Amino acid sequence: MTMFIRGSAMLAITAALQIAGTAASAQTEVKIGYALSPTSHYGVAAKKWQEVVEAETDGKFAFKHFPSSGLGGEREVIEGLQIGTVEATVVSSGTLSNFVAEAGVFDIPFMFRDLGHARRVLDGPIGDEILAKFDDVGLHALAWGEQGFRHITNNRNPIHTPADMAGMKLRTMENPVHLEAFTVLGAAPTPMAWPEVVSSLQQGVIDGQENPLSVIVSVKLDEVQKYLTLSGHVYSPAMLLVSKPFWEGLSDEDKAAFEKGATEAVIAMRGYVDDVEASGVETLRERGMEINALTPEEKAEFLKAVAPAYEEYYKTYDKALIDNIIATE
Ligand code: PAF
Repeated sequence: MTMFIRGSAMLAITAALQIAGTAASAQTEVKIGYALSPTSHYGVAAKKWQEVVEAETDGKFAFKHFPSSGLGGEREVIEGLQIGTVEATVVSSGTLSNFVAEAGVFDIPFMFRDLGHARRVLDGPIGDEILAKFDDVGLHALAWGEQGFRHITNNRNPIHTPADMAGMKLRTMENPVHLEAFTVLGAAPTPMAWPEVVSSLQQGVIDGQENPLSVIVSVKLDEVQKYLTLSGHVYSPAMLLVSKPFWEGLSDEDKAAFEKGATEAVIAMRGYVDDVEASGVETLRERGMEINALTPEEKAEFLKAVAPAYEEYYKTYDKALIDNIIATE
């Protein structure tokens, strides 16, 4: 009997060791969700992130990509990160301020002068301080990515002044800062999750939407939109986030690999944005869009019309912070 127990105990121990051995060599899956295609700036960033992590950890992590909103809208994906059903994402700032209110400060219209200005602020202490706040809400933010400056597309008419947008059913992200801006500009802003946007444009439920060239070109919005107005009304940051439960389970070496991967992913993403900012307008013109750029006088009219929204922003965000961002060289 003793011999029998010893024998079966030995068998059990051997089996347990075998399972433990398999688990030790098995890869850890990293589900990464994002709203756009694998060839978009999001896809390029996610692929670079994967490549660096794989190289740095000897293939310890297996990235599984869910592009084109395969895991739902951006808000759902971020909630998935919080509960630990999704490990990583590259997202716009669309719903970020619903998780960390301070993140919305970068969504204020006509605040950044150009991409260089935005990148310096996001890569500096102001950007870092906001990234750190995500740890309080079940997330870990690794880096600010980017989409570019947002422009307006629609099927109704070309836009030169705010009056041209009067009553226009314009889809906005689920973002209170953007909503406020388009409300004071006289449009009829309609917050909507991204997965519904293209079909809503097709069906005429909305007249237009606004997004950077990176999105307009990669999603081929020219197939469902006639007019493009280069308004550059707001800079559109993105963020590389991981789930906090996932992050806390990583060793220091693995964390360093994810950090390095995120840094390189942002470089790749910004490179994509630089390219599309240079070539996107021509591409969209060739695809048949009617395009106008706001003249300096027209832009000044938009700035004047949006001024009342700033009074609202000062109630949510410290005016000194906004002034500090604007003053950054
Ligand atoms: O407009 C949006 O919701 C975002 O810019 C998009 C297209 C989902 C990319 O994050």
